Amino acid sequence: MYTKAIVRRPGRNFANGITTSNLGQPDFNKALEQHAAYCDALIRCGVELTVPDADERYPDGCFVEDTAVVNSRVKVISRPGAATRRGEEEEIARVLAGFGTTESITAPGTLEGGDVLRAENHYFIGLSERTNREGASQLSTILAKHGFTSSVIRVEARLHLKSDIAYLGNGNFISTPVFSHVAHPANTIILDPDEYYSANCLRVNDYLLIPKGFPKSKMKILELGYNIIELEMSEFRKMDGGLTCLSLLF
Ligand code: GLY
Repeated sequence: MYTKAIVRRPGRNFANGITTSNLGQPDFNKALEQHAAYCDALIRCGVELTVPDADERYPDGCFVEDTAVVNSRVKVISRPGAATRRGEEEEIARVLAGFGTTESITAPGTLEGGDVLRAENHYFIGLSERTNREGASQLSTILAKHGFTSSVIRVEARLHLKSDIAYLGNGNFISTPVFSHVAHPANTIILDPDEYYSANCLRVNDYLLIPKGFPKSKMKILELGYNIIELEMSEFRKMDGGLTCLSLLF
């Protein structure tokens, strides 16, 4: 059960962040509205929010997921692989220090939380352009000390591991075909090419947050019996962001 989340509103220069999407410039006011709806959804799920101020040195700073890997036993401060994002983790480290002991990924390791997928007590750690083998190895060692298993998985298709796969709870995954081998086919929703973005969804306690506008994916999720909250994510999608990127839950 999650009781807490850290979120960070987009800063005014949000549109200057890193993106490969070719979907156009995000509208700042719409991004704020979508972020507010996301925060409301987390509160509806029973989570109390901590909201550090936006920091305009870091236009990608609202994507707090990449700055740490957190659970009820340990908080690991990451070391982002994207040079323009390095430093975002410092404020998040200060906030997380208020919730207990933290550990850190250190150089030459790089690790972004978007590459780290938890499924019960196992973590899949993606090796990507942002997360290197040293970062993955450091995280694996820290997690093992706290009773978690982990395995590494190569990310080649898109930005982060969680761009392509999510754990829904109850043994079920949702994935693009590249990670169809991660779990048993009977437990995996495989997405159609026009709905790949909906691989990034977020289980929060009794609800599954899903992005609005992906009807085939929604139907398959509903067939499995999940309570869903649909959220418009268009402005974050333009900046290569998704539902998991916007929070740290523990
Ligand atoms: N815009 C999010 C990222 O590239 O990390």
